[in-house]
Amino acid sequence: MFQTDVSSFPFDVGPVLHPLTDRVEEKQHCLYVANHCVDTQKISVMNKNTTLLNSLQYVHGNQAIFWRHSTNIGSMAEATRWGILGTGQICHDFVAALKMMPETEHKIIAVASRSMQRALAFNYTFDSSIPHSFGSYTEMAKAPEIDIIYIGTIHPGHYDAAMLMMENGKHVLCEKPLSMNAGLVRAMTDKARQKKVLLIEGFWSRFFPIYNHLRGELSSATIGDIGTVIVNFGLAIQDKERLADNALGGGALMDIGCYGVMFSTLVYDERPEKICASGTVSDSGVDRCCFITLYYSKNRRAQLNITADQDLDQTATLYGTQGVIKVPNFWTPEKMETPTKTYECPVPKSSSHEMKHLRSEGFIYEISAVRDCLLKGERECSLMTHEHSHIIMEVMDEVRRQMGVVYKEDVDKGLTMLSN
Ligand SMILES: NC(=O)c1ccc[n+]([C@@H]2O[C@H](COP(=O)([O-])OP(=O)(O)OC[C@H]3O[C@@H](n4cnc5c(N)ncnc54)[C@H](OP(=O)(O)O)[C@@H]3O)[C@@H](O)[C@H]2O)c1
Repeated sequence: MFQTDVSSFPFDVGPVLHPLTDRVEEKQHCLYVANHCVDTQKISVMNKNTTLLNSLQYVHGNQAIFWRHSTNIGSMAEATRWGILGTGQICHDFVAALKMMPETEHKIIAVASRSMQRALAFNYTFDSSIPHSFGSYTEMAKAPEIDIIYIGTIHPGHYDAAMLMMENGKHVLCEKPLSMNAGLVRAMTDKARQKKVLLIEGFWSRFFPIYNHLRGELSSATIGDIGTVIVNFGLAIQDKERLADNALGGGALMDIGCYGVMFSTLVYDERPEKICASGTVSDSGVDRCCFITLYYSKNRRAQLNITADQDLDQTATLYGTQGVIKVPNFWTPEKMETPTKTYECPVPKSSSHEMKHLRSEGFIYEISAVRDCLLKGERECSLMTHEHSHIIMEVMDEVRRQMGVVYKEDVDKGLTMLSN
């Protein structure tokens, strides 16, 4: 069954077994390799039996490779110790997803807010199960028993929070967008390198199993050469305070448009050569919608249709010389259609907490990938690299320049936006 050279894989290789034999459940540390990828049914079985431990993590040629952290490794290695920075909606869902993971692998040590009252109230939502509630971000930065901080504040807060945490030697998983402009993003990745800490932009979509299948389809060029990518992402969310206020980093581009840019960056893996953007900007100086065309080398392009004032079909479509791939709900996908097969990877449901956002249980994939990076001593995640964070924000800077959306941080931090 297995004719692959596993010596080049960036993780330890244990016994190699077929993923569907009975022995899979008995083995504690396995690298699973399935030729020509596994089909939908097999993935479901994997998910059903070992939902939280297994995930499709790596696609090599036409082989799908699974691995699972062993209980052995899990018990030898300490649980990853998390600090939660922020007490808003997404922090709620992130903690609820963390609570779906085995406690031997993930422990929530602290939550920090600008206000002790909010930290305590957040903790209370989780039956006051989090050992520490801090009334300032600095207190959490100094807490020695935390490995990694999840930053879930509004986007203008990401930079200061991440720099504070990295300066104090903490690893950081920071919500998208990583910061407010490309200059700030570069300063953050420089800091991560200097302090030798892991920094990942929390584009959680990248860790969904469907994205691993997508990477497999891209690397084996199953639809030939891709010339056009169309992404439609529209949600009627413009009235949310955070979205409507320029000072809070509002606007459709920063909140949901970034997913479209992330997607085309994954597909083409390069900077666009030309960017054309237009949109409607509100009186408060935030974009309600933006329509972006990205022109890449070899006459390839992406069209991103982003709206915060109405729902669109939320589908990413890739057009190749030999067919079409469709990814419905591309930011949290459970399904992908290709000319030859349909992949289905349903996100498991939390039995204990109601999520505030659709499919937030899908954070488990990102959480699992973070632990993998830490266990392997990685300081950058290959599924969401710093280089891609740079490209994404450079594109967004240029889109904002063309639409005339300026944030305080573009001026205050003394960093210029992307020049034309
Ligand atoms: N991955 C995803 O699917 C997803 C979904 C939604 C949002 N997000 C991202 O997550 C981040 C937070 O979004 P959210 O919807 O959770 O926002 P939210 O509910 O408004 O919460 C934002 C948090 O930011 C903190 N904050 C710091 N400075 C603030 C200020 N000046 N004004 C208001 N809040 C401030 C607050 O924490 P304290 O007051 O407790 O300090 C607050 O709890 C955004 O960057 C967004 O892009 C990601």
